[in-house]
Amino acid sequence: MMDRLAVIGDPVGHSLSPQIHMTWIDGLGMDASYESIRVPAGETADALERFAQNSFRGLNVTLPHKQAVVESASDLSPAVKVIGAANTLSRKPDGTWRADNTDAPGLMSALSRINVRDVAGKTVLVLGAGGAARAALYALDEAGAGLIVLNRTVEKAEKVIDSCCQRSHEYGSLADMEQYARKADLIINTTSAGYTGEHFHLPQGDGRLFFDISYGKPAAAQLDHASECGWRAEDGLGMLVCQAAESFRIWFGGELPDIEPALAVCRETLKSYQ
Ligand code: ATR
Repeated sequence: MMDRLAVIGDPVGHSLSPQIHMTWIDGLGMDASYESIRVPAGETADALERFAQNSFRGLNVTLPHKQAVVESASDLSPAVKVIGAANTLSRKPDGTWRADNTDAPGLMSALSRINVRDVAGKTVLVLGAGGAARAALYALDEAGAGLIVLNRTVEKAEKVIDSCCQRSHEYGSLADMEQYARKADLIINTTSAGYTGEHFHLPQGDGRLFFDISYGKPAAAQLDHASECGWRAEDGLGMLVCQAAESFRIWFGGELPDIEPALAVCRETLKSYQ
């Protein structure tokens, strides 16, 4: 029987996940389909029951369901328990769902792909303390990085460290970013500031990495500014594909699928949006 997969969210129409997964499904000659399905906020539990009855093998989950699916899943990975959000569901033999979070390993493999292989002992400046920051902080803390978390709302930076990290880390206000950026080995921007066209002013980068987990138009102004200031600017498209690869491996086992062809397809699609 054909394996059915889907990404659920609202909005979900522009999700690149179907293209990423279909690149692998077609490339490997598998009998599987991957759709994008709009599920409005508040309908998470009902939708999951329906998908289980319709024999979906796995789901990716995007806004606004990443937290809500945790309530409905019967089995949570250790990362999901800490982060409080899941982006990957797998149907278990009894028809209930197992929840995983592949954003955390996805970030680490995206960094590794661009030759940042060992963050242990490095000082990583993380901008933002919202939902997207949680997976990043969990992964970086586990990998042994020294973190500085800066947020517009400082109390949230302190709280997110407490809930997602095992070790203690520095935190502060985004208003002091220039001062903190001077001592960072790399910066990871998890804020949604780019969606309103804003960007943060950076000091000279001297070739250090500025990694923005967003991509396309919301990332453009910030990454342009980072490049102008001498940072090595990278967008989050690699992370999107790497987290998808981790989901694919959870569903089908075996090796991680090949990142590069799926990433090339995504880059082409983003170009066509401009
Ligand atoms: P997501 O799930 O994308 O992380 P979120 O949980 O709403 O979304 O978090 C958004 C993050 O971007 C927060 O850290 C937010 O800062 P606050 O906690 O102070 O709200 C940050 N953010 C959003 N817009 C911003 C802006 N214009 N300037 C600075 N930080 C901003």
